[in-house]
Amino acid sequence: MNDYDLLNITYPTVDHARTEMARMLEKHPTNYSLPQPLYNDPHMFRVDMEEIFQKEWLFVGMTSEVPARGDYFTVEIGQNPVLIVRGAEGEINAFHNTCRHRGSRICDDHRGKVANLVCPYHKWTYDLKGNLLFAGTEMGDAFDMKKHGLKKAHCKVGGGFIFISLAKDAPEDDFDTFLTNLDEYMEPYDVDNSKLAVESNMYEKANWKLVIENNRECYHCDGNHPELLNTLQEWDDTNDPRASQAFLDQYARQSAEWEAENIPHERRDAGHNRNRMVRMPLKEGTQVMTIDGEPGCNKLMGRIKNRELGSLRILHLPNSWNHMQSDHFIVFRVLPISAQETLVTTKWFVHKDAVEGQDYDIARLRKVWDATNEQDRILGEENQRGINSVGYEPGPYSETFEFGVVNFIDWYSNTVQTNLKK
Ligand code: FES
Ligand SMILES: [Fe+2]
Repeated sequence: MNDYDLLNITYPTVDHARTEMARMLEKHPTNYSLPQPLYNDPHMFRVDMEEIFQKEWLFVGMTSEVPARGDYFTVEIGQNPVLIVRGAEGEINAFHNTCRHRGSRICDDHRGKVANLVCPYHKWTYDLKGNLLFAGTEMGDAFDMKKHGLKKAHCKVGGGFIFISLAKDAPEDDFDTFLTNLDEYMEPYDVDNSKLAVESNMYEKANWKLVIENNRECYHCDGNHPELLNTLQEWDDTNDPRASQAFLDQYARQSAEWEAENIPHERRDAGHNRNRMVRMPLKEGTQVMTIDGEPGCNKLMGRIKNRELGSLRILHLPNSWNHMQSDHFIVFRVLPISAQETLVTTKWFVHKDAVEGQDYDIARLRKVWDATNEQDRILGEENQRGINSVGYEPGPYSETFEFGVVNFIDWYSNTVQTNLKK
């Protein structure tokens, strides 16, 4: 909690916040922005962390970030450090990154490679399955090594995406349907033969829900995102009431080409507003989301042959949106830091065999989304500042331009209310 957060304590305890949140969401119309405390109160934030980020499935990274045994990366879910590591049999494991001796973080680097997991404090050592292998000689005869393995987080993989859940019992609903859809839609990309080209980490002084709300509409794109609009068309799918005839004609032509090459494109939803994917054409004559729409990488991804694949957009609430194109793909991950601060991580992937400086140029690859992220950061921070005002009151979303935001608020409200009752 920072000083700024302290100014916004409306509810004296987390219990008060929990009761108030349930009451507010029950009567809240989902086509209106949320009441102020849901965007700025630190105790409300704590409830978000407990009911959403410590219970739901979260996107953390891609399988090709940990290609070989012992490769790992770390992530912080609020105050919960988590370690994602490739095990001996090629499986991906997620562990709470906290030692079973006295709790030290085990891996403090962002990413790396290990033979075993060794705690830096007193050198307790675990294998890649989390079993304790070595605890020094001082623990006494009664000490049971088997009872001191690393604690696991739930971990599932689909189409190269890695998801974790910190819940005691992972939410079941129809998450596996989404994973199956990801396998099918990501098959042309052959994620295991991709590599991380570059990543950015941006700290935005805004509540995590404002970051997602901003992403769920393109009402703000005109006038804010000139680089992005060189290639992106804002229609969400062919049923978008704003879609022009020219767009529909282009979609008919391109989707026939995609079908001929067995590239999945139709909209698929799974979970109540939680997960969706759809492939949409980019602007006529452009190929990928570079500044001029020309290729970002000489090598195409996986088995792809057609440079004009548009963008496969993949949404996973609460914390990810993605753009998969013909010669690179971009994944986005949102992690809350505090009531008014959020980390937005963007990662660009290319074919594993593409050579930097020869096949792709990092500055060129990242230019459009660096600019767009920075523009969105300012929009989100200004949104937060205005919401903090005594003059703020929830305002209406446009159901034509902001239906994605309505869907997100609807999912958030339902999920919190359901989880609060568990
Ligand atoms: S806290 Fe990890 S070895 Fe002591
Ligand atoms: Fe934006």
